[in-house]
Amino acid sequence: MTTVEIIEDGRAIALTVAGETYRFHAIWLRDNAWDDATRAPGNGQRLIALRDIPEGTQIAAASVDGEQLQLNFAPEGRQISYDIDWLMSHVYDTRENTQIGWNSDDVTPWDDALIDHIPLGDFARVQSDPAARAAWLGGVARYGFGKLTGGPVKEGALFQVADLFGYVRETNYGRHFEVRTEVNPTNLAYTGLGLQAHTDNPYRDPVPTVQILYCLENSAEGGENMVVDGFACALRLRDENPEGFELLSRYCARFEYAGEDGVCLRSRRPMIELAPDGELIGVRFNNRSAAAITDVPYADMEAYYAAYRHLGEIIDDPAMEVTFKLAPGECFIVNNTRVLHARKGYSGEGSRWLQGCYADMDGLRSTHAALVQKLEMAAE
Ligand code: FE2
Repeated sequence: MTTVEIIEDGRAIALTVAGETYRFHAIWLRDNAWDDATRAPGNGQRLIALRDIPEGTQIAAASVDGEQLQLNFAPEGRQISYDIDWLMSHVYDTRENTQIGWNSDDVTPWDDALIDHIPLGDFARVQSDPAARAAWLGGVARYGFGKLTGGPVKEGALFQVADLFGYVRETNYGRHFEVRTEVNPTNLAYTGLGLQAHTDNPYRDPVPTVQILYCLENSAEGGENMVVDGFACALRLRDENPEGFELLSRYCARFEYAGEDGVCLRSRRPMIELAPDGELIGVRFNNRSAAAITDVPYADMEAYYAAYRHLGEIIDDPAMEVTFKLAPGECFIVNNTRVLHARKGYSGEGSRWLQGCYADMDGLRSTHAALVQKLEMAAE
């Protein structure tokens, strides 16, 4: 039983659906009308601006008609009908997210236990089967990480991974870059340096939001890849050291890369990025491209460094990491605004050759959402 009541002198309504009551303001409802004069029937884009809605808009009459809510707006005198299901999926009269560092339900932070449920896809299947592609992209969106196996051992195959959901983002490193090391077989003592887990290119604004690393050769001893959920690390810092979390999110770090002729990339962004309402939206962490930090007041600098060290210790904690070795024809993908990656040291004979490229999370989320919609419609 759905009922509606006009409240606050017509400035809002209280809609009761299945025993729960949700309030909606008149101005919000009028702005979110779906009639043909407000929204373009084809693409759903809004045809009016807020200036076209009178100030002081009120609801003069309200009634429920089956699945529809009928509202009469004054002073326009316009009758508009609303799909109650649509209203229910856009409720805003709920408990507020008050905890700093909150995440939406679409995001699941993880630690080393993810090893048992890595979003894993078969290269050919995610290419040919929309349901398999939707499942894999959904995993990447949720965990910020995924792996594909069984792909071609062929230069440029990484572009076919980007084609699954979007477009390559070209940078000064090119459309793609080579991560190639020949281990010198005459010097078996040589050990390839491991790299601390990092996000790529924090000196860009905006950063590339997706990285793809595709393996073509990996016969050296070691050379595993490792990923760490920067969100899980930031949340652990928040719980272990709230003041440190606050410092790393309040003040901007600086990042810089000027390692080649004609390039001078600089950014000023916090290591832990929060939306104005406290949502955790980004992590930037990269010792190699961290520039001098000059935006932290003298009084806070030592504490800031202590927090930076603490976050680094959490990131280095094996309990937070997932380690795997890519075979030729396998690749992994990360949400570069969240998940850090690293290479373990390697040694012995053999070679390691990966190709990398950047792409974007918005395209990935869009492709995933559109696929899910299509699959749901086909199932109805
Ligand atoms: Fe990297």
